[in-house]
Amino acid sequence: MKVMIVGSGGREHSLVWKIGQSPRVSKLFCAPGNAGIAQMAECIDIPVTDLEALAAFADKSGVDLTVVGPEVPLTMGVVDFFEERGLRIFGPHKDAAEIEGSKVFCKELMSKYGIPTAQFQAFKERNEAAEYVEHIGAPVVVKADGLAAGKGVIPSMTKEDALEALNKIMVERAFGDAGKRVVIEEFLIGEEASFIVLTDGETVVPFASSQDHKPIYDGDRGPNTGGMGAYSPAPVVTEEVHKKIMDEIMIPITKGMASEGRPYRGVLYGGLMIKDGQVKVLEFNARFGDPENQPIMMRMRGDIIPLLEACIDGNLQKGSIDWDPRWAVCVVMASKGYPGSYEKNKVIQGLDRVMKREDVFVFHAGTARAGEDIVTNGGRVIGVTALGEDARRAIDLAYSAARKIKWDGVYFRSDIGKRALDRPR
Ligand code: AMP
Ligand code: GLY
Repeated sequence: MKVMIVGSGGREHSLVWKIGQSPRVSKLFCAPGNAGIAQMAECIDIPVTDLEALAAFADKSGVDLTVVGPEVPLTMGVVDFFEERGLRIFGPHKDAAEIEGSKVFCKELMSKYGIPTAQFQAFKERNEAAEYVEHIGAPVVVKADGLAAGKGVIPSMTKEDALEALNKIMVERAFGDAGKRVVIEEFLIGEEASFIVLTDGETVVPFASSQDHKPIYDGDRGPNTGGMGAYSPAPVVTEEVHKKIMDEIMIPITKGMASEGRPYRGVLYGGLMIKDGQVKVLEFNARFGDPENQPIMMRMRGDIIPLLEACIDGNLQKGSIDWDPRWAVCVVMASKGYPGSYEKNKVIQGLDRVMKREDVFVFHAGTARAGEDIVTNGGRVIGVTALGEDARRAIDLAYSAARKIKWDGVYFRSDIGKRALDRPR
């Protein structure tokens, strides 16, 4: 079969890598892809938001299945658009993807179905929001309602910070229409984990747990990024916590979406805060995680295609996916300046020096080809991912591979996975 992946990040490279291993796949396309993806798929220069061109390409090229990575085309309704044209596609419909596209919708849904989450209020008027901040005080988290590439969430340690966040979102409109409404919520403390499931709208099958590293600097300091590294499994998700997450969060939210007449079909990502075995939802995403998907795909055994098809066809079976018991650690290597402004087109050296082994893989994110060279083309550039018998070995292997790769202005955190070491499984 011919498969097209939509997107161009590390998440999409790991999907191309995994889907390409399926014996059923004869041809892979990726729109628009990157320099690493181009080594395993035919990249087509179509932006992820050009639904018309994507569907026309899938139709003309006889694509049997399209798999969507990023949230923007999902919230634009790419799945509905393809299906209306008789094209097969994996991902949630537009009305279901709203779980990520609108934080107000997501929070109200959680309240309605009793899903544990931070206390919150939603506002469309800046002055009312400001009064509420004056009333409840700090710390609080101010969130733009709509999509803002992970930047619309502003944890505020003082009232002044929160008021400034409100101005940025609602007055300056730093995130455009995403800031028409805001959610102001209780500041939660604890340890975060990513709990990602596959669902056909009814049956829910969990992926291996994982943990992201959002802030740019070691020790979780500095501004949030799209994710500077990830590992799987996340020891904070003990067996007991796992059961709680399935029973009190993932299954009820899936049922809730169905009751709302918005059955959720695809990958559902729960961003969770865990403290003393209690779990609260920070957010839901309507897609695979990035960078979490890199370690998760490295650990997934067997063919992923039947799982994706079962979600589409509504016959996903209970019973878990077979996971490699080894740990997987992904170290993201970024451009200096990210998540602020950064330069591009730096020649990446040493990619060919990374050992060619089954347990190490370099997933490309923001890379492009320039003649013979591969150059940087984004904030997050590559994700070096390694498997190891334990967290220590996976971390050491990922870092020893990462240190072979260089460019002018390369930056990466040096403590990815440290929390897993501090807390034995
Ligand atoms: P979100 O996009 O809602 O997951 O938020 C992005 C990041 O902001 C999360 O991964 C957390 O690190 C942080 N965050 C979001 N909501 C809260 C909260 N209520 N309390 C503390 N931190 C939060
Ligand atoms: N790593 C965070 C996300 O995928 O949203």
